Parts: sequence; structure tokens; C-alpha cells
Amino acid sequence: MHIGVDYYPEHRSRDLWETDAKLMQDAGFNTVRMAEFAWVFLEPEEGRFEFGWLDDALEVLGRHGIQAILGTPTAAMPAWVARKYPEALALQANGQRITWGVRKNNCFTSGAYRLLSERITRAMAEHYQDAPGVIGWQTDNEFGHPYGCYCDSCRADFQDWLRARYGALDALNAAWGAQFWGQLYKTWGEIALPTDVATYNPGLCLDWRRWNSWLNVRFQRDQVRILRQVCPNHFVTHNFMGLFKDLNYYDLAADLDFVTWDNYPVWGAPEFHFDAGAAADVMRGLKRQNFWIMEQTAGPGGWGAMGRNPRPGEIRQIAWQQLAHGADGMIWFRWDACNVGREQYWHGLIGHDNKPLRRYQEAAQVAGECHRLAPHLEGTTVQTPIAMIYDYETIWAFDIQPAYGGGPFSRAQANNFHNAMRRYYRALTRAGLNVDMIPPGQDLNSYKVVFAPHLYILPDALAHRLAAFVEAGGILITDGRAGVKDEFSRCHNRTLPGLLSDALGIAIEEYEALSPDMKYGVRGRNELAGAYTAVEWADWVTPATAETLADFEPWHMASFASLTRNRFGRGLGYYVGANMAEDAFYDALIAEVMRQAGIAPTVAPPAGVEACVRAHVRNGDSKRLLFLINHTEEQRTINVPAGKPELLTGATTQPTLTLDRYGVAVIQL
Ligand code: GAL
Ligand code: ZN
Repeated sequence: MHIGVDYYPEHRSRDLWETDAKLMQDAGFNTVRMAEFAWVFLEPEEGRFEFGWLDDALEVLGRHGIQAILGTPTAAMPAWVARKYPEALALQANGQRITWGVRKNNCFTSGAYRLLSERITRAMAEHYQDAPGVIGWQTDNEFGHPYGCYCDSCRADFQDWLRARYGALDALNAAWGAQFWGQLYKTWGEIALPTDVATYNPGLCLDWRRWNSWLNVRFQRDQVRILRQVCPNHFVTHNFMGLFKDLNYYDLAADLDFVTWDNYPVWGAPEFHFDAGAAADVMRGLKRQNFWIMEQTAGPGGWGAMGRNPRPGEIRQIAWQQLAHGADGMIWFRWDACNVGREQYWHGLIGHDNKPLRRYQEAAQVAGECHRLAPHLEGTTVQTPIAMIYDYETIWAFDIQPAYGGGPFSRAQANNFHNAMRRYYRALTRAGLNVDMIPPGQDLNSYKVVFAPHLYILPDALAHRLAAFVEAGGILITDGRAGVKDEFSRCHNRTLPGLLSDALGIAIEEYEALSPDMKYGVRGRNELAGAYTAVEWADWVTPATAETLADFEPWHMASFASLTRNRFGRGLGYYVGANMAEDAFYDALIAEVMRQAGIAPTVAPPAGVEACVRAHVRNGDSKRLLFLINHTEEQRTINVPAGKPELLTGATTQPTLTLDRYGVAVIQL
């Protein structure tokens, strides 16, 4: 298993390299990632390359059994690039170029920048293709910034992209509904880059976001092509950012061997890291395969402000949460705390004093555990009959028109895709259930239950597939704004929920956003019995064939349902007609859905404990590993299957298992 740290020998004096490597080896590390910001050291002036220092670092590391992933260094352009090719710096919407001096500041259509990127990539690839210490590549660093360049080259590129997409201006005008406000285009050259997605045409804005995403995919593809050609034996990956939403991560992942991601859950008070779990599931869904952590929390972080210090046991717990969700490699960010630069306070495993203290020891403990458990983890991944649709186009369309309450021009963003996703995700986690995050195009056959939160963009083909899924026995749960728009961001001219009407057995003729000072009482029936509160959004749902599971209380809502269940073919379609304020609502809903689906969690975790199961992917082999993660600072006792090996301690389980604060257990079922 690949375990290690992000290492910056160029930040450290050479006399430290040997001790660094020795300490890494002592910790059980075998992998570093390096060089993703080292362009100026590798190509100090255009076309002159210097690899000696990196060769030396690799040699030192190699003597201690440590291999390297090299970053293509295009995330930080040298000053000479900006001086020689000023157009390589992105142009902001205000007409000013980004001033050189930070990082991630390039224009992605600049011909100069793209050629320079290819040149340094090729030079590194050729130099390291047979280097024994190099195992793979990370493209650039955290694609996604800068977002939106307004230079002429970008504008022309956008126009070309649109021409390829639509073929004819008539098609584009129709797709965008350009008749509105008289925005008809007569030539491609009239199309401008939107500077504010809150006011420009929604179809234009959605395509602009698609195109921005594509620019990053294309830039990466240029590098990947070279790396594959020159280094066929190396893997190629990229460090993703979990729930980062500005790029279509499915597309970015498609050209890579596997996904890695950067996990920084420690900031405020200790809490259950739901988002880190959800992000891991999104990362696993990008290629439907396990992932690595390329930057794992090693200490308090900050560029000026500073987060809290991971408490004793928390570095281990954060790492094991990711392993439970499908991580197969663990690289901490970063080795040392650099004593200079903007990230002086982004602390590493060792501090400014270079002493291998508590955080180092804890990572070393995890490394030892990973090596010991690697044979058990091998070939396993999370397998679950529950999926959630995670669609970037819906996320973007929601950003462009969030339909929040608070007046037509309010920018209060409570009602967004991620919050909708979180409400179900957290309830599933509390219930001890795992979920696959899937793209809208994925086959649904292997799932019993599919959640489709706020499925704003619903092309007809997807609606038909979802209806067929229900008809064939699946359970679909969807909610507010489902099926409002087509792929061009035009509202469907059908009564909502449009093509899902039969599967859901309802009609929504009216709906509204609730401003922060508006709330509707909701009363649940039967299994959902209880008093809840509708916030942010309310659909005035009229049941047709569906049964009402919850009502609205206000006088004018008496005939409308706030939760419905519909039998359609052999399956069930649920519609949640409002965002509910109470966790209890979602807990009751998940319980009801899982009862109908016949799905029970492996264990019922107490509050603050997370349970994940990784199972063998090969058929006929029943290997299953149950991970239990205590996210609290107190002991927790869990009822578990007895007589099973707990792999971290080697003990055999009793009917109950007690986890210390931040404790972790891995039970072979
Ligand atoms: C990541 C980035 C690293 C470092 C870290 C801490 O997002 O990839 O280079 O900047 O954050 O800020
Ligand atoms: Zn540009």
C-alpha cells in the first residue's frame, strides 16, 4: 500500500534530506508526492532544464525505500513565463490581468501557456521515464482555479466550442431562448463571456460553465497524452477536491488511471465529518473505483487564519474514515511545516523545529496499521444497494438560479444541491448505511434505492430511465425542483414533475420559495408521525395515485401533501415536497424507505459513530470488512456480530465493542 507524505525538498536545505528520508522510512512511509510547484527549479529559464536537484532528492529517498509521484508543475508558473508571455495570466472580468505572485493564475486557452505546459511535461516525462524511484504522475494541482478568464482568446475558444456543439446559430438561439430580451445572435462573434451568472441568460451561463470545465479537462488531456506516450509504465492521476463543484469531475477523471483527493476536514469544533464521507463517496463514484488520498490532514492549517489542531487520535480517525470509504493510498499534506511562504502555518507531520512528535507518531501508527491490513483491504470496495445521483450540470444550474426565498434578487443560498444532498446523506450515515454517488448516466440495475435530490436538470432520457427503474421494482426518492429543466436550462413545458408524474403519482401545479422568515408546519402520518417544519421551498403537491405520508398545516395548504409515496409497477416513488428543518424527518423517511426496500444496516451505530462495509469485488468470495469510526470525544459502545476477528487489535469480538474517543475498529465479518 502506498503511504507517505507530500514532500518539498526545494523548501528545505539539503542537509535535512537524509534525516527526512530516514524518518519517513522509520514511519513506514514508502511514497512521496513532489514537484507540483517546482517549475522554476526545473526550468529556470525557458528551454533550459535542471533536474539534478530532483534526481538527488529521489536518490536520497530511494535509498530509504521511498518512491515518488511527480506533479507536472503547471499550477505555479515561473515569473519568467508571466514576463515573457503576459497573456498567459488570466484576464479578470474587470479587465485586469491577475497579478503574478500567487499560483493557479493562468489562462487555459493561452497558446503560450499550453505549449509551455506541454514542454515541461515532456521534458520531465523523458527525464524520469526510467527512473527507478518514480511510479506515477499527478497532473497540475487541484484543477478548478482560476475560474473564468475574459481574454479574447478565451472568448474565441468559447465561440468555437459553441459552434461545434450547436452547428448552427439557429440551434443556439433556440437552445438558449435568445428571443428573451431580444438576445438573438446573428453571428458567432457576437457571443460574449458572461460576467455574472446571476443576471445573464441561464442557457448561456450553463454552457459557459460546461466550457470552463472542458478547458481544464483539455489542458489536463494535453499533459496526459504526453505522459502516456513517454511513460507507459507510470500511472497518471490528479488531486481532486471532494465536493468542489466548478468542474465536471467525471470528465476530469475519465483520462486518469485513478482518482486521488485532498481531505481537510479539520477546521472548526470537533464534529462528525459527514462531508468528508460524502466527498469520499463522490470520489469513489468518479470512476467507480477506489481512490487515494493525495493530501491528508496532518495538522492545523491556514494561510493567515488558522484551523484547530487535530486532537490526539484524530489524525488516525480522519485517515481511517477515508480508508473505510474506499481509500487505497494515504499521503499526508505535508511532511514539514515550511518556515517561509504563504503556507507557513499549514502544519505538517513535523513542525518548524523538524521534530518527529505526536502528529508524526500518529501517522506512523496509521502507516503500520495500513501495511498490516493491506492484504485484507486488497480487492475490496464499498458495495451498497443505495445510490444518489450527483450531477454537476444540476449543481451548476442551481448555482445559476437557486430559487431561494427572500425576494427575487436575494442571494441567500440555503436551497442548493449540496444542502439537499446532505439532508439524505447524513440520515443514511446516521442509520449506518453506505451510498454510492453516481453520475446521472450510470446504469441503475445494481441498486434497490436511488436518491435524486433536487434533480433540476432532467433530460427526457434520464426521466424515462428513472421511471423504468421504479416500474421494475426500484425505489426512487426525489424532491423539490426535480425535472424542472432540460439540458439547455429551459423549463420543460409540462406540469411538474413532468415525465416522472406517473412514477411519483403526483402533480405540482404551484410551488414557492420560502424566505428565511417563512416556515410551514408539517404533520407526518403513520410511520412518519411527528411535527416537522418546511423551510426554503414548498411544492404544492397534489396526490393523484400517490398516498400522502405528510401534510402541510397552513390553511391554504390543507389539500396539498408534503410527502408522498406511490406504487408504480413493482416499485415505489417518493416525493419530498419541501425542505424539512428536522433531522428527525429524514431519519424517519430513511427508516420507512429501507423497510420497504428490505435493507438493514450491518450494525446500528450509536450517535457519532460511522459504519462502512468494504467487500470483495470478486463473486463467490464473501470477504466483508466492517469499519467502525468513532467521531466523538467520548467512548461509544456498539452491538456487533460476535466471534469475529477485529483486525487492528487481533482480538475476537464480543457482542458489544467499545471504541475509545476517535477510536477505530475493522471487523472481518
Ligand atoms: C491544497 C493544495 C496544497 C496546499 C494545501 C493547503 O488545496 O493542493 O498545495 O495549498 O491545500 O493550503
Ligand atoms: Zn483567457
